[in-house]
Amino acid sequence: MNIVIIGTGYVGLTSALGYTQFGHRVACVDVDAAKIAQLDLGHVPFYEAGLADVLHVAQEAGTIIFTTDLASVLTEAELVLFAVGTPSTSTGEANLSFLDQAAKQVGQSLDHEALLVIKSTVPVGTNRRILKIVRDTMSEAGRSDLTSLIQIASLPEFLREGSALSDFMMPERVVVGADDEVAYRLIEELHRGIQTTWVKTTIETAELTKYAANAMLATKISFINEIANIAERTGANVVDIAHGIGLDSRIGPHFLQAGIGYGGSCFPKDVSALRQIAGSKGYDFKLLSAVIEVNNRQRDVFVKKIQDVLGHIKGRRIAVWGLSFKAGTDDIRESASIDIVRRLYGLGAEIVAFDPEAMEAAKSVLPDGIQFAGTAIDASEGAEALIVLTEWPEFKEVSFGTLKTRMIDPIVFDGRNYLRDVHLEKFGFTYVGVGI
Ligand SMILES: NC(=O)c1ccc[n+]([C@@H]2O[C@H](COP(=O)([O-])OP(=O)(O)OC[C@H]3O[C@@H](n4cnc5c(N)ncnc54)[C@H](O)[C@@H]3O)[C@@H](O)[C@H]2O)c1
Repeated sequence: MNIVIIGTGYVGLTSALGYTQFGHRVACVDVDAAKIAQLDLGHVPFYEAGLADVLHVAQEAGTIIFTTDLASVLTEAELVLFAVGTPSTSTGEANLSFLDQAAKQVGQSLDHEALLVIKSTVPVGTNRRILKIVRDTMSEAGRSDLTSLIQIASLPEFLREGSALSDFMMPERVVVGADDEVAYRLIEELHRGIQTTWVKTTIETAELTKYAANAMLATKISFINEIANIAERTGANVVDIAHGIGLDSRIGPHFLQAGIGYGGSCFPKDVSALRQIAGSKGYDFKLLSAVIEVNNRQRDVFVKKIQDVLGHIKGRRIAVWGLSFKAGTDDIRESASIDIVRRLYGLGAEIVAFDPEAMEAAKSVLPDGIQFAGTAIDASEGAEALIVLTEWPEFKEVSFGTLKTRMIDPIVFDGRNYLRDVHLEKFGFTYVGVGI
């Protein structure tokens, strides 16, 4: 099939490359000319393992192209996928302006039968609204006779940054919302060859399923963080508790890691958006308000713990390992690490940070006074404390004997309980985790 994908971010680019692997031809469109120029040269503009290799294969085979000129590639398109961002507005709703803009651009040029497919995470009702924008724009351009040939399907994306391509190629399920069999069949054809469980449903259900999934995962994280706070007060150990409850197949082991809470480009905005969606229908989603409150409080709890142990923060040299919102990505959007670094810096700490992939992105948002080191060990030179904020596997490969000789005070605050199984105490460190 000939596919156009609008938006070449984490989701758009991964999807585009995945679909070339399934045997389709993909034209990728973005308004960011610099991004398109980089991609055209074979450079992936963000860090995500595996994408660069597949990009080179697809470019060699001629199955992918990049352009800023939507109209030029729409002429051949059987499917038009939307993968533009839907960030939060200041009031917590999903900002749909990028999607609306893209829909208008599609309507201005589309002149043949096509299925529109929304991969962006969007509130209930958005797919139908976008279909209307496209059809209305076509009518305004004198193509009202063609509007009935344009249909829409909701295809929410569940990939995780850090394992985006493998998640995309081997999804645990594909949820598709559509109005008729033709659309379902086209979406099946789009994913030909993959073994997965299909959830074929209505457009509204598919839209809400994506929010429900992220809200459920965020709820698990806030729940285990509440348990961690009780564990600290009672002398219990949250890691063992998580293991103990996670072995129950009704609960499962995932998303039960206590720490500084969730961040990233999806959970915070999607949990807020779902609360707003509920509110707009006159329903007070109390549980989600608590999930958000607990998540925000968890950062305060961690910073306070550092203050309590160190006595005061002002003028103290603190090493920070990890800035991305999780390991395996350079994405710092809504990163809890960035927030905690800002707070410590605001309290007067002298911060030296290291992250394997996210330092360039972090430099653009953090205050100028924050220093960056070339390695994890270099960041800890002369430090009075080390704070671990992202669970990068390379942090476990460090020589902890060397680390101890570089630090003034060998104390480690682990915001992810990630180094717990390294048993830093045996190297002479004081180790402070969350809920343990
Ligand atoms: N990142 C994830 O892990 C993830 C996972 C599942 C779902 N999602 C959802 O997928 C959507 C995209 O997320 P992302 O992280 O890939 O976003 P992103 O910010 O990385 O990429 C969005 C891209 O869209 C482009 N864009 C904006 N307006 C455009 C227009 N009119 N025409 C062409 N391009 C345009 C931007 O320039 C940008 O390159 C969001 O709704 C998000 O919630 C993201």
